[in-house]
Formats: sequence, structure tokens, C-alpha cells
Amino acid sequence: MKLPPSYRNWLSAFGTVTALCGFLAFFVLQIISLIINENIVYLGLLTYIIIPGFIVLGLVAIPIGMYRKRKQIKKEGLSAQEGWPKIDLNDTATQNAITIFVVVSVVFVLLTVVGTWKAYHYSESVAFCGTLCHQVMEPEHTTYQNSPHARVKCVECHVGEGADWLVKSKISGLRQVFKTIAGSYPRPIPTPIENLRPARETCERCHWPEKFYAHKIRNEKHFIADSANTEWNIILKMKVGAEHASLGNTSGSHWHINTDYEIDYVYDDDKRESIPWVRLINKVTGDVMVFVDEENPLPDSTVITLPTRVMDCMDCHNRPSHNFLSPPIYVNNLLAANGHLQAIPWFKKSAMEALNDPYNTLDSAFLGIRETMLSWYSNEYPELLQQHNAEISNAVGLIQKAFALNAFPKMGVTYSNYPQHIGHMETKGCFRCHDDKHTTTDGRVISKDCNLCHTIIGQGTVSSFATSDINSGLEFTHPVDIGSDWKDYFCSDCHNTLFP
Ligand code: HEC
Ligand code: HEC
Ligand code: HEC
Ligand code: HEC
Ligand code: HEC
Ligand code: HEC
Repeated sequence: MKLPPSYRNWLSAFGTVTALCGFLAFFVLQIISLIINENIVYLGLLTYIIIPGFIVLGLVAIPIGMYRKRKQIKKEGLSAQEGWPKIDLNDTATQNAITIFVVVSVVFVLLTVVGTWKAYHYSESVAFCGTLCHQVMEPEHTTYQNSPHARVKCVECHVGEGADWLVKSKISGLRQVFKTIAGSYPRPIPTPIENLRPARETCERCHWPEKFYAHKIRNEKHFIADSANTEWNIILKMKVGAEHASLGNTSGSHWHINTDYEIDYVYDDDKRESIPWVRLINKVTGDVMVFVDEENPLPDSTVITLPTRVMDCMDCHNRPSHNFLSPPIYVNNLLAANGHLQAIPWFKKSAMEALNDPYNTLDSAFLGIRETMLSWYSNEYPELLQQHNAEISNAVGLIQKAFALNAFPKMGVTYSNYPQHIGHMETKGCFRCHDDKHTTTDGRVISKDCNLCHTIIGQGTVSSFATSDINSGLEFTHPVDIGSDWKDYFCSDCHNTLFP
């Protein structure tokens, strides 16, 4: 087939072959992905990112080769071609060139449209975000799959709608790809995410502040680390909103997101755990109240230099999708779900010992958990180890599995890197502000009253369980006797160091 003389050069030939092979590979992979009909991450990477890259490279190489060849032809005086090439439609070479150009361009434009659309969808998929860089995203992807949002795409919370955030996320995504390839990403990935899109624009597309929740019953099972693994139940009536939904967010925890108010605060650490200054604005009356931490009073000149944040969903629900549980909690869950484990004396205690060591890899953790548990029993209660050998070995497997769902040694991730702000057991959570110590100049405090956010309507062991009627509530009884320490200290003062 006759083509313009300038086409005859190595670069254009290389470009043509590369582009043709790319097209061919693209079609074949399309057919394969239709047949398999499954979301295979690496296939997507090949089809929508690597191969199109080669096609573009090939298509760019063709005109560059032709341009260079034409310059060379001119220099050597082989042809008297001046300026732009003359398009003579009576010339078969020109006819062929134009036909090829038009056909290839149309196919290319069509493929680009389909490819871009598919590449966009691919890059927004959970498989892409969660599993492509397997090791980096493993902690978040694993916890996500066990969360109430397991069917909400990563991008619904991390990107949201609109072109501006899409572009922002793709640019920062590209930076992350380079960091992953270079292995220079931080372990663990820092939290909170500094430029996370505000909850108003993500969470509130599915949940919105005008949706009112009333009270909610919460039933918690705990097990004490004694010989009987004593079960301790706590039933709480959570005051999520007002007592009745028709009253709206006029009281209860969701009062903070009542659109008539705004709460902003200042923090002086990178995890937002230390909050020295809180301001409450009533947007209807214009009243403003400032609460200052009397244990960490900062001069106004320092306050204005610190970062400020307007409180939203994320200041309480900061782990809606990646909740890394602590060992006492996931062992409680294991005991609650597997009745037979309760019959192994000292099960919780030995599990806590086994989970106490910091492990550097999953393999060493699995080995360490088994060895520590067995050696704990053989040192303390050798007769129990003999009696319950099979059950203990079996239980080790369950603990290893639970460990792998909540701790990720390769990424340096455990629950303590990612504090959960709802509640107050293991981190200060709500008590960051609600500690009776954030006061206004006229003595109003952000309250730590145990009945402000919930009432306890049942607590105790199975054989001695105290209940109250739904409207009154009980005074808290701490499961093991610690006197009045639970009033005088924060729960987290003990519970964040009690166990690993
Ligand atoms: C329901 C909303 C939601 C979904 C769905 C979601 N995330 Fe998150 N993600 C969050 C929030 C909230 C944070 C913590 C932000 C903060 O504290 O600043 C977070 C934090 C992260 C972090 C930072 C490290 C950390 O744990 O704080 C990574 C990485 C991450 N998410 C990845 C993912 C991936 C991958 C998916 C999908 C498999 C996903 N997320 C799905 C809401 C979500
Ligand atoms: C795409 C929709 C969607 C988005 C965006 C979304 N959620 Fe959800 N959320 C859901 C669904 C669906 C459920 C599960 C409801 C159920 O279990 O009945 C849920 C449940 C919850 C629950 C209750 C959890 C439980 O244990 O029952 C909380 C709290 C919550 N979401 C907070 C958030 C926060 C905070 C964000 C923003 C970071 C967010 N959601 C973003 C859809 C969404
Ligand atoms: C001041 C803290 C706080 C803020 C801010 C907050 N929540 Fe909550 N939310 C809670 C508490 C506490 C509960 C009850 C949790 C429990 O059951 O242990 C709750 C419960 C929920 C539930 C489950 C309700 C049910 O009855 O099952 C959803 C959904 C939810 N919140 C969504 C949101 C969204 C969306 C926002 C932001 C618009 C938000 N929350 C802001 C504290 C807060
Ligand atoms: C950034 C500071 C801050 C944090 C964190 C915080 N609160 Fe509050 N909360 C306030 C302020 C300020 C008030 C109003 C105090 C007042 O009116 O005197 C308040 C009031 C309340 C009230 C009473 C609302 C009413 O009028 O009935 C409840 C309930 C409540 N908070 C629950 C929670 C829960 C649950 C958490 C943790 C998940 C939490 N708060 C975390 C600042 C905070
Ligand atoms: C500012 C609000 C607030 C105050 C004040 C408060 N709590 Fe809580 N508490 C919570 C929230 C929110 C949870 C649920 C945590 C969750 O969703 O995981 C909770 C959970 C609990 C639990 C159950 C823990 C579990 O995991 O089973 C107990 C027990 C408890 N609180 C006791 C108390 C006691 C005792 C006081 C008084 C010293 C108190 N609370 C004061 C908000 C509060
Ligand atoms: C002075 C230290 C201390 C303080 C403060 C404290 N605890 Fe404890 N707590 C303990 C000890 C010790 C145990 C026993 C651990 C075991 O045997 O499993 C325990 C056990 C528990 C358990 C059952 C065991 C489990 O892991 O499930 C619950 C629930 C509990 N505490 C709740 C609270 C709450 C809520 C507060 C705050 C109001 C609080 N504690 C404050 C020391 C403390």
C-alpha cells in the first residue's frame, strides 16, 4: 500500500506497531473481562491504564517520526517539498493516508470515550482503592468490609460528588501512587486526614441532620479476666436525639448537629485529642459561649494561632468504616459469640497475655500468640492445659483470626494509632470536652454527668443482674471493685493501658 514517503521511518513504524498491538490487546482483554465478568483488579490496571498508555505512545510516535523524516528529506534535497504537504486527492498515496487517518481517528475517539468512562469507573471502584496497593490499604479495606458501610463505595466518603473534589482526589491519588512505588509512604497512614471532605458533603448525602433519631437501646457484653471469665452485661439507653423523634435534635447527642447551633473548637495535637478551647454559637439568638479547659488554659494569643475546626459528624463518628478494635473488646466478642470458650478457665486472662506483645509481622504474631498462651497455661496451671488441650489449641486459632482483622503489623496499625472518638472507655472520646473542666467565665461547664448521654438500665453478672425501669436508670457499678476511682479518673486513664 502506498503511503507518503515521510512515513517510511523507524519511529513511525514502531509507533504503528505499538498502537496496533495496543488496540488488539485492548479488544482481547475487553472480551476476556466480558467472559469472566468479574472485577479483577490487575486486569483493570492493564486494560484501562497501562495499555491505553502504550496506544497513546504509539500514536504520538507516528507523527513525530514523520516530521523528523520530512525535515531530513528536505535537508538532503531529495524532494522539493516546501511548507505544508500538498494534499492531492488524485494521488493514491494521499488517499490511502487520509483513509487510514480518518478510520484510526474515529476508532481511537470511540475507544477513548469508552476507555475513559471505564477507567473512571474502575478508579472509583472499591477494588481499585482497597486492593490494588494491597499492603498499604489492607488495614482500611479489611475493617471496611466488617463495617456498617461495607456496601458504600470508598469514594462516597473520600471523594463525594462534583468535579472539583474529583480532580483534587485524582491529583492526590497520583502522588500516592508514586509514594507507593517508591515505598516512601508513612506507616501507619496518619489520621485524621487533613483535607478530608467535610461531612456535610459526604455523610449527609445519605444521613442528614434533619433525620431525627430518638433513643436507642444498646446491650454490651463484657468478660472479666478472672478464672470463670465472668460475664458482665451493661444495657444502656443511648440518648441519640430527643426522647421522641418529633422533638427533633433539641437534646441528646445529635443536638450538636442541630442547624441552629455551631460548635467550633481549637486543638493542640495532631490527633485532635487535646481540646483546650470550645465555642458554642446560637445562630438564632446570636449568643456565644466560650469554654476553656481550666487544666490547660491558653492565652488568647496562643489560641488564635492554633487550628480550629467546626464540629461535625466526624468529630464523634470518626471510625464509621475503619474501626480497629482493641484486644479486650475483640476477645469479649469472641467469648460472646462462642459459648464454649467461656468454659475454658482463665481464657480471657491468657488471651490478654498473648496479645500484650508488640508483633512486627503477622507470622510472628500468629506464632507468638500460640506460644504465649500455651506457655502461660503451662507455667500457671499445667493441669488445666492437660485437661483442655484441644479446646485451647482450637481457641488459639480464633484469637489469631480476630487479631488479623484488627491489627496490621506490616503497616504499624493497631487500635491505638486510630483512636475512636465515640464513647470514653479506651480514649477520652466525648470526655475531651465533657470533663466538667471546660468552663465559661461564669462557671458553666461541659458536663460529665453519667446520665447526660445515656442512662444505664441494666448491669451486672448473669446471676446478679440489676435493672431499673426505662425512665429512671441506675448508678454505674464498676465490674471489679475500684472504689470511687471511676468517678475521680477518666475511664481511659486505666483502660488504655490496662491491656495491650
Ligand atoms: C462511611 C464512610 C467511609 C467509607 C465508605 C470509607 N472510608 Fe476511609 N475513612 C473514613 C473516615 C471518616 C476516615 C477518618 C478520617 C479522619 O479521622 O480524618 C477514614 C480514613 C481512611 C484512611 C486514613 C487512615 C485511617 O484509618 O484513618 C484511609 C487510608 C482510608 N480511609 C481508606 C479507605 C478505603 C480504601 C475505603 C474503601 C475500601 C474507605 N476508606 C471507605 C470514612 C470512610
Ligand atoms: C452512600 C450512603 C452513605 C454514606 C455516604 C454514609 N453512610 Fe453511614 N450508613 C449508610 C448505610 C446504608 C448504613 C447502614 C444502615 C443499616 O445498617 O441499617 C449506615 C450506617 C451508619 C451508622 C450506624 C452504624 C451502626 O452501627 O448501626 C452511622 C453511625 C453512620 N452510618 C455514620 C456515617 C458517617 C459518619 C458517614 C460519613 C463519613 C457516613 N455514615 C456516610 C449509608 C451511608
Ligand atoms: C456529639 C457526637 C455526635 C455527632 C456530632 C454526631 N453523632 Fe451520630 N451518634 C452519636 C451517638 C453517641 C450515637 C449513638 C451511638 C451508640 O449507639 O453507641 C449516634 C448514632 C448515630 C446513628 C445511628 C442511629 C441509630 O439509631 O441507629 C447514625 C446513623 C448517626 N449517628 C449519624 C450521624 C451523622 C450523619 C452525623 C453528622 C450529620 C452525626 N451522627 C453526628 C453521636 C454523634
Ligand atoms: C468539641 C467539644 C465537644 C465534644 C467532643 C463533645 N461535645 Fe457534647 N457538648 C459540647 C457542648 C459545648 C455542649 C453544650 C454545653 C452547654 O450547653 O452547657 C454539649 C452538650 C452535649 C449534650 C447535651 C445536649 C442537650 O442539651 O441535651 C449531649 C447529650 C452531648 N453533648 C453528648 C456528647 C457525646 C455523646 C459526645 C461524644 C460522642 C460529645 N458530646 C462530644 C461539646 C462537645
Ligand atoms: C458526653 C457523653 C457521655 C457521658 C457524659 C458519659 N458517657 Fe458513657 N458513653 C457515651 C457513649 C457515646 C457511649 C457509647 C460508646 C460507643 O458507641 O461505643 C458510652 C458508653 C458507656 C458504657 C458502655 C461501655 C461499653 O463499651 O460497654 C458505660 C458503662 C458508660 N458509658 C458509663 C459511663 C459513666 C459511668 C459515665 C459517668 C462517669 C458516663 N458513661 C458518662 C457517652 C457518655
Ligand atoms: C482505676 C482504674 C480504672 C478506672 C478509672 C476504670 N476502670 Fe474499668 N476496669 C479496671 C480494671 C482493673 C478492670 C478489670 C479488668 C479485667 O479483669 O478484665 C476493669 C474492667 C472493666 C470492664 C469489664 C472488662 C472488659 O474489658 O470488658 C468494664 C466494662 C469497665 N471496666 C468499664 C469502665 C468504665 C465505663 C469506666 C469509666 C467510667 C472505668 N471502667 C474506669 C480499671 C479501671
